[in-house]
Amino acid sequence: MKAIDIRNKYLNYFKNKEHKVIPSAPLIPENDPSVLFTTAGMQPLVPYLLGEKHPEGKRLVDYQKCLRTNDIDEVGDNRHLTYFEMLGNWSLGDYFKEEAVKMSFEFLTKELGIPVEKLSVTCFAGDEDAPRDEVTANYWREAGIPEERIYFYGKDDNWWIAGEEGPCGPDTEMFYDTGKPPCSEDCQPSCNCGKYVEIWNNVFMEYYKHKDGKYEKLKQQNVDTGLGLERMAMLLQGKQTPFDTELFAPVMEKLEKLSKNDSIESRRIVAEHLRASIMIILDGGVPSNIDRGYVLRKLIRRMTRHLNKLEIDLSELENLIELNIETLKEMYPELVDNKKRIKQVIIEEKNKFMKTISHGEKEFEKAINKAKQEGKKVIDGQTIFKLYETYGFPPEITADLATEQGFKIDITEFDKLFKEHQEKSRMGSEQKFKGGLAEQNEKTIAYHTATHLLHKALQIVLGEHAKQKGSNITVERLRFDFSHPEKMTKEQLQQVEDIVNEQIKRDLKVTCEEMSLEQAKESGATGLFENKYGEKVKVYTIGDFSKEICGGPHVSHTGELGHFKIKKEESSSAGVRRIKAILED
Ligand code: SER
Repeated sequence: MKAIDIRNKYLNYFKNKEHKVIPSAPLIPENDPSVLFTTAGMQPLVPYLLGEKHPEGKRLVDYQKCLRTNDIDEVGDNRHLTYFEMLGNWSLGDYFKEEAVKMSFEFLTKELGIPVEKLSVTCFAGDEDAPRDEVTANYWREAGIPEERIYFYGKDDNWWIAGEEGPCGPDTEMFYDTGKPPCSEDCQPSCNCGKYVEIWNNVFMEYYKHKDGKYEKLKQQNVDTGLGLERMAMLLQGKQTPFDTELFAPVMEKLEKLSKNDSIESRRIVAEHLRASIMIILDGGVPSNIDRGYVLRKLIRRMTRHLNKLEIDLSELENLIELNIETLKEMYPELVDNKKRIKQVIIEEKNKFMKTISHGEKEFEKAINKAKQEGKKVIDGQTIFKLYETYGFPPEITADLATEQGFKIDITEFDKLFKEHQEKSRMGSEQKFKGGLAEQNEKTIAYHTATHLLHKALQIVLGEHAKQKGSNITVERLRFDFSHPEKMTKEQLQQVEDIVNEQIKRDLKVTCEEMSLEQAKESGATGLFENKYGEKVKVYTIGDFSKEICGGPHVSHTGELGHFKIKKEESSSAGVRRIKAILED
């Protein structure tokens, strides 16, 4: 069964069980500046899990585009992916354990035709925070899972929470037995030997975990489920890895034909990173030196490096992007209209990287020769940092090259220097690294500052209630969502525009201070207080005009912004308006 058929079967099955199909949220979260990418289906639905009413009702079903970067360095083995799709059915205070288990069982065995003998399940074993989940286990027994294939584990395995704080709860996971021999006498689903593969997770979200570690019951009992599409496709097709499914096979085969050596790991890295980059760019990502942009940059650069390792002519990249989009277009038809832009971003970044490589490699050789002369076996953090800072040479490449030449690297020292560097460039107080930042980045930084000015101007014109609900910035424009019940008038828009431009003319100084969240609140700084902040926050002050909690970076003077122009004002959702604006030179 192809991935698209699994997805369609899933959406249809739950549609027939009175679920409303909702679209995937973008990979780049719209209203959550605190995370880089959407990492799970629940993320865009958090407000509704906490009790807000969803416009589509209490039973939802979706597929969600997800990106998880914590295992980025593992990609290349037989299973890790950064980009993947998760199918999910949702009960927002509607059905709970019984129906969730029954539907999961029916879908797996009847719709997908998985024999019951292949299934094992796990439930929460219970602890001081929540009881042993015999209720769920009983429904599994009733469904037909024999006792010996029902396992109980603690929080490490059977509890789901995204991060440290938030909605969470015990979960029940379903495992597929691949038929491989057990690795030992007590080989179990929790074992990583490859015999059991987790295929679906049903989370019974009825708790909220607070920062202090305490659990509180939520207003409602929710169900959040996640079924990894690539993995399911792999199992149902009897393949060993996701790279053998139709999602990757055409690109993998092409890479095999083009490459002059047989590194399967490099082929997987290229195929995986190419697909992930395409999906990020589709949703508005652009390469840069910080945050999301840096992840994209890293993916494209790592991919390019492995194309080089495979000795594939880089002029083939364009064909590979074409082929990848051809492969994915049935699942994501919107790729077709965005093909030109996607190609352009990837190829430009590849070209920039090749320049970097040729400069950096020369410098690297010098550093290595010096180390050899001095009889050293370790390349220390200063060298790696200098290569990064001066030539934009990625540390992971220095590490690769050093290892190839039999050297170890001191990454701790580099990490320290890198952190300091990041702080400095974010504070905007040091312009010394400016040359290293992409031009695109300068534009987005300006838009960040313009967003603060706009936020304040809206509050002056409309009132205090006009609070930020979301923000999204590209190199071309800013987009700002704020609470306001009605369409803004022409006069109001003009006033807002004038106020912002006046602050730009005044060339106000932008300063940044670090303080505790409490102090920030006391100082009158605005912020999205419903969002997660760390212990310490940064407060950006723009002259006497605005004070906001923000991660930055920002320009150092508003005079750098150019002319501010509102292009559009429209409704975003109930009670929320959206402004799109640009900065003109
Ligand atoms: N939130 C759970 C997960 O990501 C189930 O969707 O696994």
